[in-house]
Amino acid sequence: MRILLVASAFNSLTQRVHTELRARGHQVGVELALGDEPLRAGVARFQPELILAPMLTKAIPEDIWTEHTVLILHPGPKGDRGPSSLDWAISEGARTWGVTVLQAVAEMDAGPIWASVPFPVTAVGKSSLYRNEVADAALAAVLLAVERFESGEFTPEPLDYARPDVRGRLRPYHAQPYRSIDWTADNTATVLRKLRAADSQPGVLDELFGHEFFLHGGHNEDQLRGVPGTVLATRDGAICRATVDGAVWLPQLRARRTPGGPPTFKQPATDVLGELLPAVPEVPVSPAVAATRDTWSEIRYRERDSVGYLEFAFAGGAMSTDQCRRLLYAYEQARTRPINVLVLGPERDFFSNGIHLNVIEAAADPGAESWRNINAMDDLVEAILTTTDKVVIAALPGNAAAGGIMLALAADEVWCRESAVVNPHYQLMGLYGSEYWTYTLPRRVGAATAERLTQQTLPVGARAAHALGLVDQVIPGSPAAFWAWVRTEATALADSPELADRVVEKKRRLAADEAVKPLSAYRAEELARMSENFAPGSPYHELRQNFVYKVCATATPAHLLG
Ligand code: COA
Repeated sequence: MRILLVASAFNSLTQRVHTELRARGHQVGVELALGDEPLRAGVARFQPELILAPMLTKAIPEDIWTEHTVLILHPGPKGDRGPSSLDWAISEGARTWGVTVLQAVAEMDAGPIWASVPFPVTAVGKSSLYRNEVADAALAAVLLAVERFESGEFTPEPLDYARPDVRGRLRPYHAQPYRSIDWTADNTATVLRKLRAADSQPGVLDELFGHEFFLHGGHNEDQLRGVPGTVLATRDGAICRATVDGAVWLPQLRARRTPGGPPTFKQPATDVLGELLPAVPEVPVSPAVAATRDTWSEIRYRERDSVGYLEFAFAGGAMSTDQCRRLLYAYEQARTRPINVLVLGPERDFFSNGIHLNVIEAAADPGAESWRNINAMDDLVEAILTTTDKVVIAALPGNAAAGGIMLALAADEVWCRESAVVNPHYQLMGLYGSEYWTYTLPRRVGAATAERLTQQTLPVGARAAHALGLVDQVIPGSPAAFWAWVRTEATALADSPELADRVVEKKRRLAADEAVKPLSAYRAEELARMSENFAPGSPYHELRQNFVYKVCATATPAHLLG
């Protein structure tokens, strides 16, 4: 079928729907909802048999939904209506929630129901829930709805609140007054629920040292205690704040925009507070200790059956210079351990999205900071590429893009959850790219495919990535099921009689490759191009600013039209 995706942004869920529908042989186009007239023009141009809206914040014009079947994906169970479904689900502590595919009608979210799929509400931030549990349920619901539409025999179910399975209701926008934290009364569980419901957007508006900030992220702290509301400590850019019965870590803050002032964006909390922050102790935690505690740490390390697991989780998958250096240090420590296999990856969600564009944007000299950041990424990639005494596995429970997917390709094998979507290209940010991609990508997929993937700038689903040789294993199921599988396979690999031969072969291959062209030459060539990209006046600076300040596109990018 010719299916047109209409979306407010080509976000992760829209990318996932795009890759999965294409994989099923549908012809898929994308039209960003940037106004009624461009949308009408886009529909007239594409001539869709079905219009699907995976993520839409505006209403579709009546003439479009009367002439075409328009199916809207709503992140709530049957009967749920309103713009803040997930915020309400998390803040009220729902254990299960749902995704429903509705036909567009005049009244928002009130159309006939084509499919509805439940999902468990894991105790994570809203955007992580959205990119994982919601996305998985959404995909199932979309595929069911498309199949039903294609059959021509399905009659969608009118919304009827008398039915026992219709448990939702119309709820208002989850405005800041619902989110506000009373530090003198709210216990840790309540504070964390409020933070998760607002993560990663819009954050919880709060006051610190007489200034207003949005709080982003939130994690329990198991040891530090103090006067409720006070800042107790810092760690790796995050601040720890006491609650009435414990404490929580706040990794990122965003200053409230002053009327008429410049827009603000998220940054590490200590960077935003700067001199406002009183002298509180920096309380580091080692990756190995972090793995045994319920405290915030971006890096954890554990061992099991001669396998080392270096877990990392960076908000939005972005890795600043400092974060790259910390991960490199932890990697170097892990490298010295008596293990056969080293597995790298987060527990869930993004693997990595490359250099930290927000931290770069905030730097006094963004070009210089970009340079430091890409070199720190390259140092990390180099350490992985030159690890010749053990097998290194990159485990992707979630998406990866740009330098983040190239980071994964430095490992010997890439194991990927079926739901993951990868974007192996840099061009949309105006960058040539580094992370030794000119060595690793063609080595995996061949020069022609490497050229196509980097130039076409389209997302690639995990199955398609596997078919191309970009990833080695694809496993269906939840992030927890994925990790259960990874642990079993990693143990089997570590114990396998072939492991010694593999390690010898790996060393031989690297030496042979280096004899043809040293790794340092790939890096030098890539960085020469990146140096041009980072120079003043190059398109990268404007593209980065648009990304960081979330400037809306003015037209649907040509590569998405289909
Ligand atoms: N630096 C800083 N923040 C980043 C980031 C990066 N490299 N990549 C993603 N993020 C942030 C986003 O700003 C967003 O923040 P928010 O939750 O506060 O809105 C969050 O991570 C999720 O990203 P989003 O763009 O909403 O997710 P998506 O799934 O729709 O799109 C990408 C994913 C990777 C396609 C998109 O984020 C992207 O293009 N990132 C930049 C990749 C890049 O060019 N890196 C630099 C070159 S190595």
